[in-house]
Amino acid sequence: MKLGSIEVPRLGLGCMRIASMTDAQADTYIRTALDEGLYFFDHADIYGGGQSEIIFGKALKRTGRREDVVLQSKCGIRRGMYDLSKEYILSSVDGILERLQVDFLDVLVLHRPDALMEPEEIAEAFDQLKESGKVREFGVSNMNSRQIELLQKYVHQKIITDQMQLSLTNCSMIREGINVNIEVQDKGIDRDGNILDYCRLNDITIQTWSPLQYGMFSGTFLNNPDFPELNAELDRQAEQYGITKEAVACAWILRHPAKMQVIVGSTNPARMHGFAQAEKISMTREDWYRLYIAAGNRLP
Ligand SMILES: NC(=O)c1ccc[n+]([C@@H]2O[C@H](COP(=O)([O-])OP(=O)(O)OC[C@H]3O[C@@H](n4cnc5c(N)ncnc54)[C@H](OP(=O)(O)O)[C@@H]3O)[C@@H](O)[C@H]2O)c1
Repeated sequence: MKLGSIEVPRLGLGCMRIASMTDAQADTYIRTALDEGLYFFDHADIYGGGQSEIIFGKALKRTGRREDVVLQSKCGIRRGMYDLSKEYILSSVDGILERLQVDFLDVLVLHRPDALMEPEEIAEAFDQLKESGKVREFGVSNMNSRQIELLQKYVHQKIITDQMQLSLTNCSMIREGINVNIEVQDKGIDRDGNILDYCRLNDITIQTWSPLQYGMFSGTFLNNPDFPELNAELDRQAEQYGITKEAVACAWILRHPAKMQVIVGSTNPARMHGFAQAEKISMTREDWYRLYIAAGNRLP
């Protein structure tokens, strides 16, 4: 698939949980990922307080395969505040490049909306980063459609992605579209300015974070006794399609016609082959809705 001008796999690997890897583990992580065609890596300057990028950067250097990977990182979260000022964005990118030991980032993402953000300043920062060759493409995360529209009014580069939370159990962006105007249990509430349709209308790729988690970092729903119906349906489909149940959970997102990119956060090389199979199946409409309902969602 295309992410802006860059060819990327439909499944990317998120590096939020790799901060305590040994060098040997990081080498295996990158090597296995590349062997499975999972060559897109999502970072943020804050993961492990910078340690995730350091460990990854050293391992990537040892492989000598910078040209075989697509690297994305994020900035804008500071202790006790969000900061999308020009100076902070520029200094953050320098820090990211140093920790990753690379000359440029493929994609820079603004991690969260900053209440005090001034799009004119962000535009200046993006121009400088683009002109210096430090960043190829630009995106945002956790922004609603109006925030993106406001930013896009000023920045000269196209916003190519909005990275948002989406999993079977956290799918308000899908649920609100199914429950338009329904008041029961607030299911029809639009929490994001119809971000799903907005991104489709504007050719912005939604990247989905935490595709296997429920709540906000509450844990995975996989094999979790609190989600018996969902796990039974995932097991059934895993058997039917001949892939792992984690892959079925990812395939459910990939089946949506918005052509989203799934960012999985596994640190376990043994699971990577399974994840890579997610894009190989074509989930039926019936199975997609079965999973949606088994996850506790209802049709009006
Ligand atoms: N933009 C944002 O605000 C934001 C926020 C959060 C995350 N992110 C990005 O999204 C990425 C993915 O997030 P995430 O790590 O929460 O994603 P995730 O893929 O939903 O969860 C990964 C976790 O699930 C575990 N897991 C996978 N399969 C399992 C199984 N069968 N049984 C038990 N546990 C299993 C993994 O353990 P193993 O390691 O053992 O496989 C890992 O701890 C992050 O790395 C980060 O890049 C972005």
